[in-house]
Amino acid sequence: MNTLFLKADSAGVKSAADLLANGEVVALPTETVYGLAGDATLESSVHKIFAAKERPSFDPLIVHVSSEILKHPNGPLKALVNQGILDSSILTWPHKESIEKSMSHFWPGPLTYVLPRGSRIPGAVTSGQSTVGIRMPSHPLFQAVLRQISFPLAAPSANRFGRISPTTAEHVKAELQNRIAGILDGGPCSVGVESSIISILNPLKITLLRPGKVSKVELEEYFQVPVGVQQTLGEQNQAQLAPGMLDQHYAPKKPLLLIPEPFDLAKDLPVQIKVANLSGKAAFLSQGPIPSELIAALNGEVHVLSSSSSLDEAAQNLFSEMRKLDEREDIHFIVADLPTEHSSGLAAAIADRLNRASINKPLRK
Ligand code: TXA
Ligand code: MG
Repeated sequence: MNTLFLKADSAGVKSAADLLANGEVVALPTETVYGLAGDATLESSVHKIFAAKERPSFDPLIVHVSSEILKHPNGPLKALVNQGILDSSILTWPHKESIEKSMSHFWPGPLTYVLPRGSRIPGAVTSGQSTVGIRMPSHPLFQAVLRQISFPLAAPSANRFGRISPTTAEHVKAELQNRIAGILDGGPCSVGVESSIISILNPLKITLLRPGKVSKVELEEYFQVPVGVQQTLGEQNQAQLAPGMLDQHYAPKKPLLLIPEPFDLAKDLPVQIKVANLSGKAAFLSQGPIPSELIAALNGEVHVLSSSSSLDEAAQNLFSEMRKLDEREDIHFIVADLPTEHSSGLAAAIADRLNRASINKPLRK
């Protein structure tokens, strides 16, 4: 299949919308990462998404909805129920108003809600589960496409299964060229890591399934209830696993050694490299600037995610730097450190993605 490269203008948006209305799949930019979109209500489109990504059918997709939903006179939940995206049972939940208000607060933006699935969403989207992940992306191009079609869009990250998520149209091309109908080029993504995912149950119980820019603390402050965190990786039945919860995810092809904290780089790193049986030239992926004597001790090259130690910048650059290093033939393995700050959403998200990409997985929840 010949992949069309579409520009970020009204003609590009229209072509993307036309392809989607014809049941094709098209990569679209979101504020987090590029998504591979298809009609969420059409089983054949959903199958095309799974096939292009080589994604196993047990890993459910997120459904992306238009920001027009926030303007519905009876509120976003009623709008989602009317459109067959959510099940009407949610309208009887005692906490429905608080959920609804939170949607107006966090949307459009990088937060996905896992809620009871409506009848218009086929089981193929949700891997047969009775819940569906829903998100309203804030990217203007994604929203412009949604305004031109009459169905929501299922869209996982536009990478082959288990690989690094794409944050530019070039990354999507490298992953999926000639497997999908089109790529709409919206430039680099502003957030850089995937949305936070929460599941909400009745009676009110909120669990953070995947860390993202919206943090656990922010959610607790907003909802005024404790927010649980999905338990340790790999300890659950895969069919029920949420959010990229597979151990091997976001992975470069090269070994990535993640250094735990606290850590004396100059003294401990050579030991760790030896224990992990790594040899050859290393690239050090650093959250911020590191002292020059350490650079010398590392005997490799240093790639700084943010020279001002900004988490926003580090998150924006994380996947593209990992991808660059992965493509370099003269580099044999990657060493990475963790954000020094722990409480913010982006710090948790960066730590989570690095941990999943690493061979040593130093973080345990
Ligand atoms: O930021 C994002 O969320 C990006 C952009 C494109 O919107 N999308 C994304 O999709 O990261 P994906 O497929 O790479 O990751 C979605 C995760 C999956 O790993 C899946 O397990 C989880 O969301 N998920 C989807 N529906 C779910 C459900 N009903 N219950 C539990 N987890 C669900
Ligand atoms: Mg993904």
